[in-house]
Amino acid sequence: NPPNNDKPPTYLFKIIIVGDETVGKTSFLRRFTDDTFSPQYSATIGVDFAVKVVETAKNEVVKLQVWDTAGQERFRSMTSSYYRGGHGVVLMFDVTKRPSFLHLSNWLTQIQSFSNDDTTIVLVGNKADEDEGREVGTDEALKFAHENDLQYFEASAKDDVNIVNAMEALCTANIERV
Ligand code: GTP
Ligand code: MG
Repeated sequence: NPPNNDKPPTYLFKIIIVGDETVGKTSFLRRFTDDTFSPQYSATIGVDFAVKVVETAKNEVVKLQVWDTAGQERFRSMTSSYYRGGHGVVLMFDVTKRPSFLHLSNWLTQIQSFSNDDTTIVLVGNKADEDEGREVGTDEALKFAHENDLQYFEASAKDDVNIVNAMEALCTANIERV
């Protein structure tokens, strides 16, 4: 639903997006907050954040504070502190880059060591618009998600596929827990 900025938010959720460099974390957030996409790569330096207000079907206003972290190795030590107080994590890989999928276990270890125990994690396989050069199949991604008790969304920041659904899944999981 469109945001209702007149009402004070019923919920404030802090979400953090993590995953290897160039998987599309910043593009995912831009698509979610401004509905824009750029094919140019501009690496995130450290951490960035954006806010978006959404309204649920039950007319509850949810304010989402989304932290977009740098995937590059040299910024890793600084991103770890942003997990604190978070309600949800978007763990992202790139379906056209196998290494970004193979590194998911490392990311899960990092998430588990720095976040609260009840943090919800959704797995996003981004760049699903790329049919050629695909290196990770849907089946194996689903298998990994199942083994680790994660919801999986195959997404495209470019074509605007499953961005809102992934964010809604995080909100729903959190609202049900409150
Ligand atoms: P870091 O900030 O270094 O961690 O990278 P990032 O994960 O934020 O990646 P970013 O969003 O900057 O995207 C990296 C490149 O992938 C850019 O050239 C984007 O245009 C491209 N890209 C992002 N999402 C998609 C997508 O859904 N499909 C396609 N085809 N390209 C995408
Ligand atoms: Mg980025």
